[in-house]
Amino acid sequence: MKLGLNIVANGAHAAGWRMPGARVDAAMDIRFWKRMAQEAERARFHFMFWADGIAVRHSAKDDEELAYNARIDVFEPLTVIGALASVTERLGFVASASTTYNEPYHIARKFASLDYVTEGRIGWNVVTSWSEQEAYNFGRDAHMEHGLRYRRAEEFVDVVLGLWDSWEDDAFLRDKKSGMWFDYDKMHILRHKGKHFTVRGPLNVARSPQGRPVVAQAGSSDTGMELAARTADMVFTAQTTIKEGQEFCNDMRSRVTKYGRGPEDIRIFPGIMPIVGRTETEAHEKYLELRSLVDDGVGIAGVARLAGGVDIHALDPDGPLPPLKPSNAARARQEMIIAMGKRGMTIREIGRVLAMSQAHRVVYGTPKQLADDMQAWLEQGACDGFNLLFPHYPKPLEEWVTMVVPELQRRGLFRTEYEGKTFRENLGVPIPQNVHLRNRTSVQVPAAAASND
Ligand SMILES: Cc1cc2nc3c(=O)[nH]c(=O)nc-3n(C[C@H](O)[C@H](O)[C@H](O)COP(=O)(O)O)c2cc1C
Repeated sequence: MKLGLNIVANGAHAAGWRMPGARVDAAMDIRFWKRMAQEAERARFHFMFWADGIAVRHSAKDDEELAYNARIDVFEPLTVIGALASVTERLGFVASASTTYNEPYHIARKFASLDYVTEGRIGWNVVTSWSEQEAYNFGRDAHMEHGLRYRRAEEFVDVVLGLWDSWEDDAFLRDKKSGMWFDYDKMHILRHKGKHFTVRGPLNVARSPQGRPVVAQAGSSDTGMELAARTADMVFTAQTTIKEGQEFCNDMRSRVTKYGRGPEDIRIFPGIMPIVGRTETEAHEKYLELRSLVDDGVGIAGVARLAGGVDIHALDPDGPLPPLKPSNAARARQEMIIAMGKRGMTIREIGRVLAMSQAHRVVYGTPKQLADDMQAWLEQGACDGFNLLFPHYPKPLEEWVTMVVPELQRRGLFRTEYEGKTFRENLGVPIPQNVHLRNRTSVQVPAAAASND
């Protein structure tokens, strides 16, 4: 079982910071996150995942509600990971970075550099950004349309992968005798000219310790899954039943094979929010307390963000969810709330689910019950592991480490030591061969690389 720690500001629950013992000033405290990263490494987590948006994200009408939302002030992920890498040795790191509000050269360079800084422990979560507010920070008055965002993302990822193959592994000679710095034949200039980007290359970073950083993808719409199947090593999802998890895994693995990759080349991580107690009653009480802390305004604003233009704020919160037009924000997430509406949940109730765990599955129970649940998902082919979302910090993570990890280890489900040094080794995904070497043995070349020297 592979485990990631999904960091969202002070905690993944919008009001978890109000729980007794929760740190309220965690989000911007680097010493605190250093301690959490070390704790995660001691527990043998595979990775720490820093989600991100490039704005204070909210729906158009909820400025006031923001005052009740704790996910506002957050570190920029690459910056914080640079610091966390220096106090850890085996823990992997994944950072979200947007293909809609970045340029591919920047992203290729930053992640390749971080692959060196972390000594082979970095991954890029490719996101197309879902929030309208990000557009307003980048000279636009509307968020790019969903389909266009993914078309741009396809080309963006190709360019980044192409840039990461700018240099063959042994391109840099640094030969004092001849004075030759690198072998010209082992440099590959991308010369990419596409619909969205023109990028000459090469990258000014040598091929990095993992060959290239791990690539993650988190969109579950059809276009999101295609992008993942073609380019990603790992996928973050949010299914809530074993059956949905199995369907997603089967679908994703069959898409992967279309692109000449093996089904084991991709690792699938549904998110869960675990709430652990020494007894089931204790865990249930914590769950109820967390649920009672949700501010309804924050929850309803969450529904509004996914409403595809329907004015949710104008409706009775205790009424049903109306039919929604396709969301320009997050398609798969919108389908989840539509399904909740069909099950008879009101707008207020759906909002509470969103605010509580961002619609990820919430599981409460004893260490044994949590381990049973996760074991069932794993053994029934519904995932390769889990992205854990803790409602606040530090207590739920500490309880997880002391109470649940030993139970998983006792069952032989979770490792007691890191298998390797790099994130790829620990994740069990291969180092992709440099496309130009592959080219020499005349195997197929991805689109962006086709225009290389
Ligand atoms: C576990 C998880 C983590 C995500 N992290 C981010 C993130 O950090 N930043 C972001 O903009 N979107 C994030 N997303 C959203 C997705 O990247 C994607 O935009 C969203 O799911 C909509 O994609 P879809 O329309 O293909 O479903 C995340 C989604 C999931 C399931």
